Amino acid sequence: MSTALATPASAQSALAMLETRGLGARYGHVEALHPTDLQVGEGELVAVLGPNGAGKSTLLRAILGLVTNFGSVHLRGQPLPRLDPVAVAARGVVLVPEGRGIFGPMSVAENLELGAYRLRDRLEFQRRWERVLELFPRLKERLSQVAGSMSGGEQQMLAIGRALMAGPTVLLLDEPSLGLAPRVTEEILATLGRLNAEGLSIILVEQKAPLALELANRAYLLSVGRIVATLDPREITSYDELAQHYFT
Ligand SMILES: Nc1ncnc2c1ncn2[C@@H]1O[C@H](COP(=O)(O)OP(=O)(O)OP(=O)(O)O)[C@@H](O)[C@H]1O
Ligand SMILES: [Mg+2]
Repeated sequence: MSTALATPASAQSALAMLETRGLGARYGHVEALHPTDLQVGEGELVAVLGPNGAGKSTLLRAILGLVTNFGSVHLRGQPLPRLDPVAVAARGVVLVPEGRGIFGPMSVAENLELGAYRLRDRLEFQRRWERVLELFPRLKERLSQVAGSMSGGEQQMLAIGRALMAGPTVLLLDEPSLGLAPRVTEEILATLGRLNAEGLSIILVEQKAPLALELANRAYLLSVGRIVATLDPREITSYDELAQHYFT
Protein backbone atom coordinates (compact mmCIF):
# COMPACT_ATOMS: atom_id res chain seq x y z
CA MET A 1 0.00 0.00 0.00
CA SER A 2 1.49 3.30 -1.06
CA THR A 3 1.13 6.39 1.09
CA ALA A 4 1.46 8.33 -2.19
CA LEU A 5 -2.33 7.97 -2.34
CA ALA A 6 -2.66 10.69 0.25
CA THR A 7 -4.05 13.94 -1.18
CA PRO A 8 -1.77 16.91 -0.44
CA ALA A 9 -3.44 19.67 1.55
CA SER A 10 -2.83 22.08 -1.35
CA ALA A 11 -5.15 20.02 -3.55
CA GLN A 12 -8.06 20.77 -1.24
CA SER A 13 -10.29 23.80 -1.70
CA ALA A 14 -8.99 27.15 -0.50
CA LEU A 15 -12.13 28.28 1.35
CA ALA A 16 -13.92 25.19 2.54
CA MET A 17 -17.66 25.09 2.99
CA LEU A 18 -17.02 23.38 6.30
CA GLU A 19 -13.68 22.88 7.98
CA THR A 20 -12.60 21.42 11.30
CA ARG A 21 -9.44 22.87 12.80
CA GLY A 22 -7.91 20.70 15.48
CA LEU A 23 -11.38 19.45 16.40
CA GLY A 24 -11.32 16.83 19.12
CA ALA A 25 -13.81 15.42 21.60
CA ARG A 26 -13.86 13.86 25.04
CA TYR A 27 -16.17 11.59 26.93
CA GLY A 28 -15.22 12.34 30.53
CA HIS A 29 -11.42 12.09 30.59
CA VAL A 30 -11.25 9.91 27.50
CA GLU A 31 -10.21 11.71 24.31
CA ALA A 32 -12.27 9.71 21.81
CA LEU A 33 -11.40 12.09 18.97
CA HIS A 34 -7.89 13.53 18.74
CA PRO A 35 -7.35 16.91 17.01
CA THR A 36 -8.79 16.52 13.54
CA ASP A 37 -8.52 18.65 10.39
CA LEU A 38 -11.16 17.85 7.80
CA GLN A 39 -12.48 19.88 4.90
CA VAL A 40 -15.61 19.74 2.79
CA GLY A 41 -15.54 22.04 -0.20
CA GLU A 42 -18.67 23.59 -1.69
CA GLY A 43 -20.59 20.85 -3.49
CA GLU A 44 -18.22 18.14 -2.33
CA LEU A 45 -19.13 14.81 -0.84
CA VAL A 46 -16.53 13.47 1.56
CA ALA A 47 -16.64 10.00 3.02
CA VAL A 48 -15.48 9.21 6.53
CA LEU A 49 -14.57 5.55 6.83
CA GLY A 50 -13.25 3.43 9.63
CA PRO A 51 -13.90 0.42 11.83
CA ASN A 52 -16.30 0.25 14.77
CA GLY A 53 -15.26 2.55 17.58
CA ALA A 54 -12.92 4.63 15.37
CA GLY A 55 -14.68 7.86 16.36
CA LYS A 56 -16.77 8.49 13.24
CA SER A 57 -19.98 9.30 15.11
CA THR A 58 -17.99 11.30 17.65
CA LEU A 59 -16.56 13.42 14.83
CA LEU A 60 -20.05 14.25 13.54
CA ARG A 61 -21.29 14.88 17.08
CA ALA A 62 -18.34 17.20 17.71
CA ILE A 63 -19.10 19.20 14.55
CA LEU A 64 -22.68 19.66 15.79
CA GLY A 65 -21.53 20.48 19.32
CA LEU A 66 -23.33 17.49 20.79
CA VAL A 67 -20.28 16.32 22.73
CA THR A 68 -17.61 18.08 24.80
CA ASN A 69 -15.12 19.26 22.22
CA PHE A 70 -12.07 21.44 21.62
CA GLY A 71 -10.61 23.06 18.53
CA SER A 72 -13.05 24.70 16.13
CA VAL A 73 -15.40 24.23 13.21
CA HIS A 74 -15.76 26.85 10.47
CA LEU A 75 -18.55 27.28 8.00
CA ARG A 76 -17.44 29.33 4.97
CA GLY A 77 -14.59 30.55 7.17
CA GLN A 78 -16.82 31.68 10.05
CA PRO A 79 -16.56 29.82 13.37
CA LEU A 80 -19.62 27.82 14.37
CA PRO A 81 -21.10 28.22 17.86
CA ARG A 82 -19.73 25.75 20.41
CA LEU A 83 -21.84 23.20 22.29
CA ASP A 84 -25.00 24.67 20.82
CA PRO A 85 -26.44 22.13 18.35
CA VAL A 86 -29.59 24.16 17.75
CA ALA A 87 -27.55 27.19 16.72
CA VAL A 88 -25.28 25.03 14.54
CA ALA A 89 -28.30 23.50 12.79
CA ALA A 90 -29.73 27.00 12.31
CA ARG A 91 -26.55 27.81 10.35
CA GLY A 92 -27.38 24.95 7.99
CA VAL A 93 -25.20 22.16 9.37
CA VAL A 94 -27.71 19.33 9.73
CA LEU A 95 -27.12 15.80 11.03
CA VAL A 96 -28.96 12.61 10.11
CA PRO A 97 -27.89 10.67 13.19
CA GLU A 98 -26.89 7.05 13.64
CA GLY A 99 -30.14 5.20 14.32
CA ARG A 100 -32.14 7.86 12.39
CA GLY A 101 -33.66 9.69 15.37
CA ILE A 102 -37.14 9.94 13.94
CA PHE A 103 -40.17 10.24 16.20
CA GLY A 104 -41.77 6.80 15.97
CA PRO A 105 -45.23 7.56 17.36
CA MET A 106 -45.68 10.62 15.11
CA SER A 107 -46.80 10.54 11.50
CA VAL A 108 -44.47 10.86 8.53
CA ALA A 109 -45.93 14.31 7.79
CA GLU A 110 -45.38 15.48 11.38
CA ASN A 111 -41.79 14.26 11.34
CA LEU A 112 -41.14 16.16 8.12
CA GLU A 113 -42.77 19.31 9.48
CA LEU A 114 -40.53 19.15 12.53
CA GLY A 115 -37.48 19.40 10.28
CA ALA A 116 -38.62 22.88 9.26
CA TYR A 117 -39.98 24.02 12.62
CA ARG A 118 -38.01 27.26 12.50
CA LEU A 119 -39.13 28.18 9.00
CA ARG A 120 -41.79 30.92 8.76
CA ASP A 121 -41.74 31.29 4.98
CA ARG A 122 -44.71 29.18 3.74
CA LEU A 123 -43.57 29.26 0.13
CA GLU A 124 -40.13 27.99 1.06
CA PHE A 125 -41.74 25.33 3.26
CA GLN A 126 -43.85 24.18 0.32
CA ARG A 127 -40.85 24.17 -1.98
CA ARG A 128 -38.84 21.94 0.41
CA TRP A 129 -41.87 19.70 1.08
CA GLU A 130 -42.44 19.01 -2.62
CA ARG A 131 -38.76 18.43 -3.19
CA VAL A 132 -38.55 15.84 -0.40
CA LEU A 133 -41.62 14.00 -1.67
CA GLU A 134 -40.24 14.05 -5.19
CA LEU A 135 -36.93 12.58 -3.96
CA PHE A 136 -38.72 9.98 -1.82
CA PRO A 137 -42.05 9.10 -3.46
CA ARG A 138 -42.57 6.34 -0.89
CA LEU A 139 -42.92 8.97 1.82
CA LYS A 140 -45.61 10.68 -0.23
CA GLU A 141 -47.71 7.50 -0.14
CA ARG A 142 -47.29 7.26 3.63
CA LEU A 143 -47.71 10.80 4.92
CA SER A 144 -50.32 9.88 7.51
CA GLN A 145 -48.64 6.61 8.55
CA VAL A 146 -47.08 6.34 12.00
CA ALA A 147 -43.34 6.69 11.32
CA GLY A 148 -42.31 3.85 13.64
CA SER A 149 -44.41 1.37 11.66
CA MET A 150 -42.46 1.89 8.45
CA SER A 151 -39.65 -0.32 7.17
CA GLY A 152 -36.05 0.50 8.07
CA GLY A 153 -35.40 1.88 4.59
CA GLU A 154 -38.48 4.09 4.68
CA GLN A 155 -37.49 5.37 8.12
CA GLN A 156 -34.04 6.26 6.79
CA MET A 157 -35.66 8.11 3.88
CA LEU A 158 -37.76 9.98 6.41
CA ALA A 159 -34.71 10.86 8.49
CA ILE A 160 -33.01 12.28 5.39
CA GLY A 161 -36.23 13.99 4.30
CA ARG A 162 -36.60 15.63 7.69
CA ALA A 163 -33.00 16.87 7.51
CA LEU A 164 -33.68 18.31 4.03
CA MET A 165 -36.72 20.15 5.41
CA ALA A 166 -34.24 22.05 7.61
CA GLY A 167 -32.63 23.47 4.43
CA PRO A 168 -29.07 22.24 4.97
CA THR A 169 -25.99 23.81 3.43
CA VAL A 170 -23.94 20.88 4.72
CA LEU A 171 -25.60 17.53 5.35
CA LEU A 172 -23.93 15.08 7.74
CA LEU A 173 -25.04 11.45 7.61
CA ASP A 174 -24.07 8.79 10.11
CA GLU A 175 -24.24 5.34 8.50
CA PRO A 176 -27.48 5.78 6.55
CA SER A 177 -27.23 2.21 5.26
CA LEU A 178 -27.11 0.59 8.71
CA GLY A 179 -29.30 -2.51 8.79
CA LEU A 180 -30.71 -1.97 5.31
CA ALA A 181 -30.93 -4.40 2.41
CA PRO A 182 -28.48 -3.80 -0.47
CA ARG A 183 -31.16 -2.53 -2.85
CA VAL A 184 -32.50 0.04 -0.40
CA THR A 185 -28.96 1.08 0.47
CA GLU A 186 -28.19 1.67 -3.20
CA GLU A 187 -31.39 3.65 -3.64
CA ILE A 188 -30.60 5.89 -0.67
CA LEU A 189 -26.98 6.43 -1.66
CA ALA A 190 -28.07 7.23 -5.23
CA THR A 191 -30.36 9.92 -3.82
CA LEU A 192 -27.46 11.34 -1.83
CA GLY A 193 -25.41 11.35 -5.03
CA ARG A 194 -28.19 13.25 -6.76
CA LEU A 195 -28.39 15.84 -3.98
CA ASN A 196 -24.64 16.24 -4.11
CA ALA A 197 -24.66 16.61 -7.91
CA GLU A 198 -27.10 19.49 -7.39
CA GLY A 199 -24.56 21.22 -5.17
CA LEU A 200 -25.24 20.05 -1.62
CA SER A 201 -22.09 19.55 0.47
CA ILE A 202 -22.16 16.22 2.28
CA ILE A 203 -20.15 14.37 4.92
CA LEU A 204 -21.02 10.69 4.70
CA VAL A 205 -19.99 8.27 7.42
CA GLU A 206 -20.38 4.76 6.04
CA GLN A 207 -19.39 1.21 6.85
CA LYS A 208 -20.20 0.16 3.28
CA ALA A 209 -17.01 1.75 2.05
CA PRO A 210 -17.05 0.73 -1.63
CA LEU A 211 -20.46 2.35 -2.15
CA ALA A 212 -19.43 5.52 -0.34
CA LEU A 213 -16.21 5.71 -2.35
CA GLU A 214 -18.17 5.64 -5.60
CA LEU A 215 -19.79 8.93 -4.58
CA ALA A 216 -16.99 10.64 -2.71
CA ASN A 217 -14.62 13.38 -3.86
CA ARG A 218 -12.35 12.55 -0.95
CA ALA A 219 -12.19 9.94 1.77
CA TYR A 220 -10.91 10.30 5.31
CA LEU A 221 -9.87 7.12 7.07
CA LEU A 222 -10.37 7.26 10.81
CA SER A 223 -8.77 4.83 13.22
CA VAL A 224 -8.66 4.98 17.01
CA GLY A 225 -9.80 8.61 17.05
CA ARG A 226 -7.39 9.90 14.41
CA ILE A 227 -7.48 10.65 10.69
CA VAL A 228 -4.85 8.21 9.46
CA ALA A 229 -5.21 8.97 5.74
CA THR A 230 -6.88 11.39 3.33
CA LEU A 231 -7.42 9.71 -0.02
CA ASP A 232 -8.61 10.34 -3.53
CA PRO A 233 -11.24 7.62 -4.15
CA ARG A 234 -10.26 7.38 -7.84
CA GLU A 235 -6.88 6.05 -6.78
CA ILE A 236 -8.23 3.38 -4.45
CA THR A 237 -8.17 0.00 -6.10
CA SER A 238 -8.96 -2.17 -3.10
CA TYR A 239 -10.66 -0.98 0.04
CA ASP A 240 -9.82 -4.28 1.74
CA GLU A 241 -6.12 -3.62 1.21
CA LEU A 242 -6.51 -0.13 2.60
CA ALA A 243 -8.36 -1.43 5.63
CA GLN A 244 -5.62 -3.96 6.24
CA HIS A 245 -2.96 -1.33 5.92
CA TYR A 246 -4.57 1.34 8.08
CA PHE A 247 -6.86 -0.46 10.49
CA THR A 248 -4.86 -3.47 11.64
N1 LIG B 1 -21.33 8.43 25.25
C1 LIG B 1 -20.11 7.87 25.33
N2 LIG B 1 -19.46 7.76 26.50
C2 LIG B 1 -18.22 7.22 26.57
N3 LIG B 1 -17.54 6.75 25.52
C3 LIG B 1 -18.14 6.82 24.32
C4 LIG B 1 -19.45 7.38 24.16
N4 LIG B 1 -19.78 7.30 22.84
C5 LIG B 1 -18.73 6.73 22.24
N5 LIG B 1 -17.74 6.45 23.11
C6 LIG B 1 -16.45 5.84 22.80
O1 LIG B 1 -15.77 6.67 21.88
C7 LIG B 1 -15.10 5.89 20.88
C8 LIG B 1 -15.60 6.29 19.49
O2 LIG B 1 -16.98 5.92 19.38
P1 LIG B 1 -17.86 6.30 18.11
O3 LIG B 1 -19.26 5.95 18.45
O4 LIG B 1 -17.58 7.69 17.70
O5 LIG B 1 -17.26 5.30 17.03
P2 LIG B 1 -17.79 4.96 15.57
O6 LIG B 1 -16.61 5.06 14.66
O7 LIG B 1 -18.96 5.80 15.24
O8 LIG B 1 -18.20 3.42 15.72
P3 LIG B 1 -19.41 2.60 14.99
O9 LIG B 1 -18.88 2.24 13.63
O10 LIG B 1 -19.56 1.40 15.87
O11 LIG B 1 -20.61 3.47 14.95
C9 LIG B 1 -15.38 4.44 21.23
O12 LIG B 1 -14.27 3.95 21.95
C10 LIG B 1 -16.61 4.51 22.10
O13 LIG B 1 -16.64 3.46 23.02
MG1 LIG C 1 -20.89 5.38 14.83
